[in-house]
Amino acid sequence: MGDEVYVGILGKGTVGSAFRKLIEERADMVAEVAGRRPKVTGVLSSKDGDFDEILAASDVIVELIGGIDPAREYVTRALREGRHVVTANKQLIAHHGQELVAAAREGGGQFRFEAAVAGAIPVIRVVQESLGAIPIEKVFGIVNGTTNYILTEMARAGLSYEEALKQAQNLGYAEADPTEDVGGADAAAKMAILARLAFGAPVGLEEVPYEGIEQIKPDDLAYAKELGLSLKLLGVAERIGDEEISVRVFPCFLYPGHPLAPIEGPFNAVMVEAPAITEITMSGPGAGGIETASAVLGDVVSVIGGGSPLFEENSKLRIAKDVEMAFYLHLEVEDKPGVLAKIAEILGDNEVSVRSVVQRGSGDDAQLIMVMHPVSERRFDAALKRIGKLRFLRSPPRSIRVIEEEFN
Ligand SMILES: NC(=O)c1ccc[n+]([C@@H]2O[C@H](COP(=O)([O-])OP(=O)(O)OC[C@H]3O[C@@H](n4cnc5c(N)ncnc54)[C@H](OP(=O)(O)O)[C@@H]3O)[C@@H](O)[C@H]2O)c1
Repeated sequence: MGDEVYVGILGKGTVGSAFRKLIEERADMVAEVAGRRPKVTGVLSSKDGDFDEILAASDVIVELIGGIDPAREYVTRALREGRHVVTANKQLIAHHGQELVAAAREGGGQFRFEAAVAGAIPVIRVVQESLGAIPIEKVFGIVNGTTNYILTEMARAGLSYEEALKQAQNLGYAEADPTEDVGGADAAAKMAILARLAFGAPVGLEEVPYEGIEQIKPDDLAYAKELGLSLKLLGVAERIGDEEISVRVFPCFLYPGHPLAPIEGPFNAVMVEAPAITEITMSGPGAGGIETASAVLGDVVSVIGGGSPLFEENSKLRIAKDVEMAFYLHLEVEDKPGVLAKIAEILGDNEVSVRSVVQRGSGDDAQLIMVMHPVSERRFDAALKRIGKLRFLRSPPRSIRVIEEEFN
C-alpha cells in the first residue's frame, strides 16, 4: 500500500465528524511523524456506507459508533482480519475488552482505546506504556466531567443538585438522560478499564461498586466550604496488601492542597501512584468532539508508527471485600440530652473513632457533623445501620467519604 495508510471510519456523529476533519487537516503531519500518509477510505453511519467495503479497503478501522451492537461485531471482525482498530468506546472495552484483545492477537493488529477514558488526557498511554514496567499502587481521579461540573456549581453558586444538573444540560455538559454520568456508572466503566491496565487483573464491571452524586445536598457543600474541603466524584483503583485490589467510585471530600482539589468544571484529572515515581497528576478537558478526536488521532499515529500494546491479564490479584476510608457523617437529630452519647456508643462498638464533631443549630434544626478517622468500610456501614434506626434522628444519616492526606 506504498506510503499511504488507509483508514476507515465507523460513525460520523460528534466524534466521528471531528475526527474525519482532523485526520484530513493533519494528514501531512501524521505522515511526517508516523511515516505514512493517512487516507480515509470511507465513513459509515446508520444511513450511509457499507462496512464490508470499508473493511476491505482499510488498514486501520476507527470505531466511533458507540454502544455494544453493532460496534462489537465490527471491531471483532476488523481485528480478526488483521486490521488495527482504534476506538473511543468505553462500554465496549469495559464489557468485552478481553474478547477483543484475543481477536487482536488472532489477527496480529493493534487495538487502542486512549479516548475511552478521560478524554484528551493520555492516561492509558501513561499507565500502559510509560509506566508499563513499574508496579502501580493506585490510579485514581475525576474521570467524569459532567459530575465535576455539577459539584463545582453546587459549591460555587450554592445551587441544588437539580439546578446544577439543569445548568449542565443547558450548556451541553450533561446529556438529556444523565443517569450513567450522575449515577457513577460511566466512571465505573472507566475505572474498570484503568484497573485492568494498571494491575493486569481482570476486573468485571459488576465488581466495581459505584455511587453517584444525586444524594448530595447543598448543606454538605456548605459545610465543606467552611472547612476548605472540596467534594469530587472519585474513581479509585488501588492495591490492598499483596493479594488484593479495590476498584470503586464514590463522592469524596478532599483536603485543600490535594492535587485533585482545584480541578473544577467539566475537567478530568487522574493521579497515578507508584513507589518509583511517587505520584503523577494529569489533568485536562474530559470530553467533547474535538478533544476525543485528538486522542483518537494520537492512537492512529501510534498504530501507523508501530508498537503493539495489548493488555495482559495474568495477575493473581483479587478484588478486596473491604477497605479503609475516613468518613464525614451528617445527622439531623432532636436536640436533647444523651443523643451524642448514644451515637458515640454505637461508633465505639464498631471501633469507629471520631476525628472531629460539630453541633450546628438547635431545637428542630439541630445537626451533628462528624468526621471519622479511617476505618473499615464494613464497620462504618454497620455503625451507620444502627444509627439510622435511632428514634431521635429526624432524617436518614448522610455519609460521604473523606481523603485524609494533606498535600503541601
Ligand atoms: N461525544 C463525546 O464527547 C465523547 C467523549 C468520549 C468518548 N466518546 C465516545 O465516542 C463514541 C462516539 O460518540 P459520539 O458522541 O460521536 O456519538 P454520536 O454523535 O451519537 O454518533 C454516533 C455515530 O454512529 C452512527 N451509528 C449509529 N448506529 C449505527 C449503526 N448501527 N451502524 C452504523 N453507524 C451507526 C451514527 O449514525 P447517524 O449519523 O446516521 O446517526 C452516528 O454517525 C462513543 O463510543 C462515545 O462513548 C464520545
